[in-house]
Amino acid sequence: MTETATADNPGKLWIVGMGPGDQGLITPEARQAVEASTDLVGYRLYLDLLGPLAQARRRHEAALGEEIRRADMALDLALEGRNTALVSSGDAGIYAMASVLFERLAERPPEERQRLDINIAAGVSAMQVAAAHAGAPLGHDFCTVSLSDLLTPWEVIEKRLHAAAKGDFVVALYNPRSERRDWQLNHAREILQAHRPADTPVVIARHLGRDDENVETNTLEAFEPAHVDMLAVVLVGNSQTRAIDDWVFTPRGYANKES
Ligand SMILES: C[S@@+](CC[C@H](N)C(=O)[O-])C[C@H]1O[C@@H](n2cnc3c(N)ncnc32)[C@H](O)[C@@H]1O
Repeated sequence: MTETATADNPGKLWIVGMGPGDQGLITPEARQAVEASTDLVGYRLYLDLLGPLAQARRRHEAALGEEIRRADMALDLALEGRNTALVSSGDAGIYAMASVLFERLAERPPEERQRLDINIAAGVSAMQVAAAHAGAPLGHDFCTVSLSDLLTPWEVIEKRLHAAAKGDFVVALYNPRSERRDWQLNHAREILQAHRPADTPVVIARHLGRDDENVETNTLEAFEPAHVDMLAVVLVGNSQTRAIDDWVFTPRGYANKES
């Protein structure tokens, strides 16, 4: 029997990023949070990726697109006194459930908020794994841009791409392409190409942490958007990013520093 959460005995809610899908990339903190939970809330595939960790726990699934429902379920379960983990892929704070949770929390009255003990376990984001498997492309200033215009108007995304291009940031492109959103990646390429060389290295990292993981290096001019799908992250180098053998790296500038 669980006891309803009170301000003196608040309901535990962990927001957990479980990495891109490889069990080895689940942080010890995230693992402990899941192990301490009785109830898991998440998209079915992410819960499946937890493997044995998800066993013997109550699963509360909701489809992609039902993010608000997932956040509400997690809050309600924790308020009922269930030890709850809201599970995201990658890092829960990067284009994922943590911010949705806080948006929904902000709608709850203070009496409910006081009855919750919320913690967030940092996770390994897709761009970090992509970078690690390609070399060190994020070695200098970088930014991320999501190319999904489902929630953000394309004009806003375009403005940010122009700013990233002008600022010579290495750019990690999330949500780069799907069956329905098939032109945005090429458009992003054109914006970036106006400010950096055609042979700027580009890393296309697909299905990280899955059996069919594939990390390919190409150039800004030559990479093929059709090779990119929704489970891919694309890293576009800045004007200093170089490729050597199979590696891509962005120098920090030590070679230019006088000793
Ligand atoms: C809704 S965002 C979630 C990002 C996630 N929270 C993170 O930190 O990696 C989904 C996007 O993340 C990237 N992504 C997530 N998992 C990935 C994986 N296993 N391999 C490559 N890219 C991935 C893709 O760009 C995908 O379209």
